[in-house]
Amino acid sequence: MKILIVGSGGREHALAWRLKQSPRVTQIIAAPGNPGIAQLAECVPVAADNIEGLVDLARIERPNLVIIGPEVPLVMGLADKLRAIDIPVFGPSARAAMLEGSKGFSKDFMAKHNIPTARYRRFDATQAAEAKAYLDTFDGPPYVLKADGLAAGKGVVIPETKAEAEAEIDAMLGGRFGAASASLVIEEFMHGEEASFFALCDGETAVALAGAQDHKRAGDGDTGPNTGGMGAYSPAPILDEAMQSRVMEEIVTPTVNGMKKDGRPFRGVLFVGLMIDEKHGPRVVEYNVRFGDPECQVIMTRLKDDPLPQFLACAIGGLAGCARLERISDPAVTVVMAGAGYPGEPKKGGVIGKLKEAGKVPGVIIFHAGTTQKGDDIIASGGRVLTITATAPTLQEAVIRAYEAVDTIDWPDGFCRRDIAWRALKRG
Ligand code: AMP
Ligand code: GLY
Repeated sequence: MKILIVGSGGREHALAWRLKQSPRVTQIIAAPGNPGIAQLAECVPVAADNIEGLVDLARIERPNLVIIGPEVPLVMGLADKLRAIDIPVFGPSARAAMLEGSKGFSKDFMAKHNIPTARYRRFDATQAAEAKAYLDTFDGPPYVLKADGLAAGKGVVIPETKAEAEAEIDAMLGGRFGAASASLVIEEFMHGEEASFFALCDGETAVALAGAQDHKRAGDGDTGPNTGGMGAYSPAPILDEAMQSRVMEEIVTPTVNGMKKDGRPFRGVLFVGLMIDEKHGPRVVEYNVRFGDPECQVIMTRLKDDPLPQFLACAIGGLAGCARLERISDPAVTVVMAGAGYPGEPKKGGVIGKLKEAGKVPGVIIFHAGTTQKGDDIIASGGRVLTITATAPTLQEAVIRAYEAVDTIDWPDGFCRRDIAWRALKRG
């Protein structure tokens, strides 16, 4: 089988790495891929947001399955255009990708289908005064303001005072995130522990895949600015089997049923960002319509079974007949190495040395993200550059292995958090 993977991050490298092991996969093409993926697949220089270019590539290559990694091409309708030329796609239609593409849509959807989440209201550019008045309906700060559209992970602002919240309402509705913040959602601040849950869906049925926990802030101790994610581990202790069943029953199944009923069947991986506390149980912080990055890296390294049959079933139906994918019992952790300055302007251009040596640490796999190849050298060329992933019989050992590999890598411009998995390690 020929697989086309769209994207160029650590997530797509992990998908390529796992699928390469499938006995049914004969060829992997990646668009555009990265130097790590290039060791496993043929990389074609078509960007992940070049919809026409990707459709042309698929028309020529006729892959048996296209896996779309990032959200932008999904929201732009890549899956629809590929299905229109009879190519099976792992990933939702543009109408289903609205779950991630519009916060307002996803909140209205949850309200309509009684899916537990924070209380909210939507406001457009003419309603700044109403938006400010709505702040008074909460107990006090922090307030949660969300740009409606995709804003590269930066569209959520959590002001600590009412004055800041009011200024932020003006800035957002005034175009701080361009069209993405032409309207916004204001919602109740939820307390609790955050976790990510992933389920595979074929439009009719959902099958649980795994739980994970991400580290959104750039700095140790969960300080500093929000990022795309600085590290992750799986399993997440808070998402034990009982909690996963609750999430399936109270959130995932009603979501898949609701989307089907509303004429937007969801195909692909549903990534539910959760807030969990004793009083409310699991509630939805947000939906994503693709794998998380770096959560995908820890999920793929823990999969014992070949995920290809499930991925295909998501694309063409029949997931109900598939068993839940078996995972190895060993936990996995991944540490993101980013260029100094990230999530602001990262330092680029430095040569990354000793990658081969680092990759020899037992249990370690290095997935590339923002790297480029120049002759024999690997050069840092993005914000998040490498994701160092490790498995071991215990999470503590996996963490030690991951940092041993991190410390072997010779890249003075890079940084990482030194406390990935602290929450799970603290639980013991
Ligand atoms: P999002 O981009 O929706 O994932 O939001 C970014 C981060 O903001 C989340 O990972 C949470 O940590 C936080 N967040 C978003 N919504 C809420 C909420 N209603 N209550 C508390 N924290 C939130
Ligand atoms: N790591 C969080 C995300 O992919 O959205």
